[in-house]
Parts: sequence; C-alpha cells; structure tokens
Amino acid sequence: MKTLIILAHPDLEQSIANKNILKHLQEDVKNIEIRHLDKLYPDFNVNVIAEQNALLSADIVIFQYPFYWYSSPATLKQWLDKVLTFGFAFGVGGDKLKGKHFLLSVTLGGPTKSYTPLGYNRFTLDEFIKPIQQTVYMTEMIYHGFIHSNRNAYVEGMLNSKSEIKVNAKNHANQISYFIETLRKGNTHKIKPFIKKWFEHFDQLDENGFFLQYLSSDVKMQIPDHNEFIGHDGFNKWYTEAKNNFIGLTAHHLSNIDITETSNNYFEITFNVRYVTQTKDNSIDIFLKENWQLVWNTTSDRPLITEYLVTKIK
Ligand SMILES: Cc1cc2nc3c(=O)[nH]c(=O)nc-3n(C[C@H](O)[C@H](O)[C@H](O)COP(=O)(O)O)c2cc1C
Repeated sequence: MKTLIILAHPDLEQSIANKNILKHLQEDVKNIEIRHLDKLYPDFNVNVIAEQNALLSADIVIFQYPFYWYSSPATLKQWLDKVLTFGFAFGVGGDKLKGKHFLLSVTLGGPTKSYTPLGYNRFTLDEFIKPIQQTVYMTEMIYHGFIHSNRNAYVEGMLNSKSEIKVNAKNHANQISYFIETLRKGNTHKIKPFIKKWFEHFDQLDENGFFLQYLSSDVKMQIPDHNEFIGHDGFNKWYTEAKNNFIGLTAHHLSNIDITETSNNYFEITFNVRYVTQTKDNSIDIFLKENWQLVWNTTSDRPLITEYLVTKIK
C-alpha cells in the first residue's frame, strides 16, 4: 500500500512539529511519498498532471499541515482548486479517487481546551475541518477522520518548549503509523479467529442469538439434507430442530481455510470440516465443504455472513 503525504508548510526549515512528524514517518512507514507543495510550487503554479498522477498511484492520501487561521496554509487551497478537477475527482467520469483512504493530519498551536464552546477558539477542530471532510466525500475517498496535536506553537522563552513539541510530534507520527499499519493489515487476519469462535460456539450448542448477530437479515443458507433457506427465521427453525435432535455436543474439525478479499472488506471463504456428532437416530461422522460470503463491517468492526453454503463431500 502506497501512502502519499500532501504537505503544506511555508517554512519547513523553521518548523518543529511538522518537520519532526515527517522525519518519524520517513523512518517508520514503508512506501511513502511526501510532496511538499511550498517547495514544489513556490510560485503557486501547480503541475496538475504530476499531482493527479501522484494521487492515482496512492492507496492512502494524507494531508499534513499546521493549522493556520483555522484552515490550511495557502498552497493546499491552491492545490485543491487546481488538482481536484471535474472528470477526475468529481462529476461525470470523476471517480479516479474513489475508494482511496484519506486521513487529515494537523498540528495546532492552541491547547485542547481552547477548541471548546467556552474556549477562546470557540469551535471544535471537527467543526473547523468540515470543508475538507465534505471535499473528501465529493471525491468518494474513504474519510478516516483526523489526527491532531495541540500546543505546537513555539516562541522562545514564552510559548512551549522545543522538547515538548518534539514529544508531541513523536506521538502524532506514531498515531499515523498505527493508522497506516492497521489499514495495511486490513481485516483478513480477523476472519480465521472468527470462524474458530463460530464453531466453538456451535460445538457448545450455544443460543441462537449468538449466531444471529453474525448473519445478515437476508443470509442465504444451504445445509445438506435441508431446503435452502433465507434469513433469520430459516436459521432459527433449522438450528432449533438440529439442537433438539443432538445427543450431547458436536465437533467440527476445520482444515484448508482459504480467505480471499474479493473487494474492500468483502470476503469469499472456503474450508473443509469433519463433522462428528450423535443424534437420536444415528452417529454422524462426515466431511463437509463450506463456502461463505462475508462482509467485514468496519463501523462495528464485526463480520456479517451473507451466504453460508455447506455441501457433503463424503
Ligand atoms: C499564520 C499562522 C496562523 C496560525 N493560526 C493558528 C490557528 O488558527 N489555530 C491554532 O491553533 N494555531 C495557529 N497557528 C499556530 C500553528 O498552528 C503552529 O505554530 C504550528 O502547528 C506549529 O507547527 P510547525 O512547528 O510545523 O510550524 C498559526 C500559526 C501561523 C504562523
């Protein structure tokens, strides 16, 4: 995953906060491109093609800047006006940024309490950055909110100390690195533990509610020797009947788990199961193949199974 940092700072030489944040990111994050707008375009003559190409090559876009008069340094505004064109970033055919991840990263002079209704800045940072947030929505990038740090203004002997600002910068950069790392890892690594948990609860013949929370309301289910059923009612009927028929617990031995992310947070999962149990009528020891479709809900950070197909192998 490539990270593109669009940096706006008119005097990086004198910077403490932004300069140190960038230094840490360069050390900690792989595959990163930093475009310092003020250095690239001191005359504000933005190379639109070069900037659009940089965006196209990125998976994660981060705007990094010091908060200036409740907004960004001027180069970023010029960049937005020139680069996010009709047919590229919005409008007909303007879906070139769709699905890229966006994060805002801002350093502030004012302390946290100043950005409250009774503080001297009156409004929250969340309120001040609404134009950026809406711009991101227009481009169909995925808005991941902002990372910020306060008390970064330095006036020798009067306002903050360089060492405090450097500590801020390290914490700030760590949060960005963590964000990038979390995106890189995606949610694929959470799926195997979920499948294991699902069958542990199955083997204990847990309450229906445990399973229903992970099944979409229109889940399609196919279980051997049953008609296909759709939705929670079908699951409830099948599972209640099955539970009444078991003597004791069940055992699911899983193997060959294969997980493919077909698109962002949509997964196709296949695996084999040796299924052993005892019902009122007979002993069961069979091999099954399962094929699931699952969506990872990033808001609730939970999986939702949309298709659950089980076939008998032998
Ligand atoms: C022109 C200008 C405007 C500023 N406006 C704000 C502001 O609106 N709110 C705020 O909290 N800090 C403001 N500051 C303080 C800067 O945000 C702070 O000095 C900066 O984040 C420190 O980062 P640096 O060390 O990378 O320059 C302003 C500073 C300058 C020079």
